[in-house]
Amino acid sequence: MEREFSNQVIFITGAAHGQGRATAIAFAKERANIAAFDVAKQIEYPSYTFGNSQELESLKQEVEAIGSECLIFSGDVRDDEAISSAVSETIEKFGRIDVLFNNAGICAYGLSHELTEQAWDAMVDINLKGAWLVARRIIPQMIKQKSGVIISNSSIAGLRGMGRLSHYAASKWGLIGLTKSWAIELAPHNIRALSIHPTGVNTPMNDGLAAMEGATPQEIAERSAGNLLPVPWIEPEDVANAVLFLSSKKSRFVTGSQYVLDAGLLTR
Ligand SMILES: NC(=O)c1ccc[n+]([C@@H]2O[C@H](COP(=O)([O-])OP(=O)(O)OC[C@H]3O[C@@H](n4cnc5c(N)ncnc54)[C@H](O)[C@@H]3O)[C@@H](O)[C@H]2O)c1
Repeated sequence: MEREFSNQVIFITGAAHGQGRATAIAFAKERANIAAFDVAKQIEYPSYTFGNSQELESLKQEVEAIGSECLIFSGDVRDDEAISSAVSETIEKFGRIDVLFNNAGICAYGLSHELTEQAWDAMVDINLKGAWLVARRIIPQMIKQKSGVIISNSSIAGLRGMGRLSHYAASKWGLIGLTKSWAIELAPHNIRALSIHPTGVNTPMNDGLAAMEGATPQEIAERSAGNLLPVPWIEPEDVANAVLFLSSKKSRFVTGSQYVLDAGLLTR
């Protein structure tokens, strides 16, 4: 059956597990083809579990079992060569890229005056510069097509200050500046740009951060008691649904704005 995303292509960073993977599956179910990019190994910082190549392989199989096609790429969003070659291969194979989901990101705790320069650089280079590095290789194709949507996964930390997360919050606020500037530059080409701002999401990142605090994710959620709605966190599929909606014609005139999925947290 023909669906809205039939023959469309979404390029997703940080796709091996968590929100990126859930988004790949959701788009495959809507008949989109997937380009899944992930560092797929442990990197220097932080110490929780990153995606791996078996997860990328199993994502490919899952997408193909649904009936869509899936290219997988192991690469770091800080590595322009890896990005350029993944983008070229995607365009060669599918002829287009309709949606970019800038999702790869890291998070770790630390008081701002105690952070090392290495921690600061990793956070900002992956979460903020990485989004720009990937987008700048995809935007020319979107301009050629005269269509496209760029969605960047920020956080509630992109809309408020957060103690022990200054480098994370700074990188996530930065994505708003980037998003709004893309919206201005790219609107004449019929390309939209948006950021999304989830509360805690039930992913390996959430589990890993809790473990680094010596607590369970449930204990961390209870301590912060942030969400208005009675849930400790939202699911990766909730984020995937938001990305689907924001990529669809139903939101065709939405650009430059911030879509909040916070279970009411910022209203508290
Ligand atoms: N989990 C949360 O509570 C939460 C809340 C709000 C926003 N976010 C944001 O959502 C995004 C996805 O988070 P998640 O919860 O799915 O995290 P996750 O750690 O569970 O998954 C992130 C994926 O990104 C990959 N990745 C990390 N660094 C990379 C790099 N340099 N290059 C390429 N791939 C890389 C990892 O290997 C992993 O597969 C992140 O940007 C995160 O900051 C997370």
